Amino acid sequence: MKKLSLFLLVAFVLTLFSMGAAFAKDITLTFLIGPDSTGIFHKEVALFEKKNPGIKIKLVEGPHSTNDRYQMFVTASMSKKSPYDIVWADIIWIPPLAQKGWLLPISDYVDVNKLYAENFKATVDGSIWDGKIYRVPAMSDAGLIYYRKDILEKAGVKPPRTFKEFFQVAQKLQDPKNGLWGFVYQGKQYEGLVCFYLEWLWGNGGYYYDPVTRKVGVDSPQAIEATQMLVDTIHKYKITPPDVLSFQEEESRMFFESGKAVFLRNWPYVWVLSQSDEMSKVKGKVGVMPEFYAEGQHPYATQGGWGVAISKFIEKDKVDAAIKFALFMNSYEAQKLAFMVNGWDVARRDIYYDPEVLKKNPFFKELRVILENTRWRPATPIWPKLSDIMSRYLTKAMTQQMTPEEANKKMAEEARKAVAEFWNK
Ligand code: GLC
Repeated sequence: MKKLSLFLLVAFVLTLFSMGAAFAKDITLTFLIGPDSTGIFHKEVALFEKKNPGIKIKLVEGPHSTNDRYQMFVTASMSKKSPYDIVWADIIWIPPLAQKGWLLPISDYVDVNKLYAENFKATVDGSIWDGKIYRVPAMSDAGLIYYRKDILEKAGVKPPRTFKEFFQVAQKLQDPKNGLWGFVYQGKQYEGLVCFYLEWLWGNGGYYYDPVTRKVGVDSPQAIEATQMLVDTIHKYKITPPDVLSFQEEESRMFFESGKAVFLRNWPYVWVLSQSDEMSKVKGKVGVMPEFYAEGQHPYATQGGWGVAISKFIEKDKVDAAIKFALFMNSYEAQKLAFMVNGWDVARRDIYYDPEVLKKNPFFKELRVILENTRWRPATPIWPKLSDIMSRYLTKAMTQQMTPEEANKKMAEEARKAVAEFWNK
């Protein structure tokens, strides 16, 4: 009897110990993301947790706009105790957040050469600031034009390439009285509008800010003309509904998927969704191509993209788990899942050669070339400021509170001031 109770006591103590050890190992990471409308992040997390017992990921879904989520992370970091251990970080966030010291440099934990070997160069370049890496890339992005293949074919029209051809074709094929508009895009005053406008600005031979020479060029005739074209989509050619002023990515995607527009500017994720979403009325009817451009110029795609970054204020004993998760999001398995569920143009190159991927989205063969040739928004810690200036004045022009010339001149003036303040302080 005595032996039995001793045995039970020892067993009890051992159980307590092992429970204690299990508790000690259990780590929860808080992860700030956007709205998980297709459930992809939940799926990735479930897969990761299954493979890594002892690590839990708590998802915090912020608003859609990259500007708003950036602000959430900035506000949290200002208290030097970020409630977010890890963050789904836009390529444009890295210079400003790294410069403020709010992201954990991860050069000691990840093999940068391996990342370069496996991912699109821009996705790794965009994770680095001042010689240190701050993010594991997961997704690339490049602006594209989607169009209604069926409508163009029926009218016997080839997909337009130059701005001039585009405006003619969009006007000809649209029928707004019956609910079919020519063109929609991200027209709200936020980063998405800037990404789109830059493509027309570059495609028209202009530029905004060159971080190497520190010159601002957005008051050039080419730039003013690009703004004029943007305004003309709504007011002159009337190929775009004024509602576009409240459109972000998702509103414009849904507008196009419900069959209400001939052309759409958006990111690569739209293709798979337009073919798989139950709500989509354009299955089998969508073509995709690079942006429009002025005669004698080239099409440009703005480089976007996301990855996993770690807060500088994360508790030390959580860092290894956070790195594990960040690298998991870059693994073949996670990247393929992201494509299959969400159509993401992921960061890893090998996905673009996967037969299953190519079957689901044959455009990925061309996309991999486009993703090697994107153009960056200026990589600078003052990008949030420069972007805000640009979107504010574009909105003033689009709502006709200013002429394109006035808007671009003000844009240039304020941008020059911001650049001078940053460099002379
Ligand atoms: C996409 C891009 C991102 C960009 C954003 C603008 O999510 O990947 O880089 O800032 O769109 O809305």
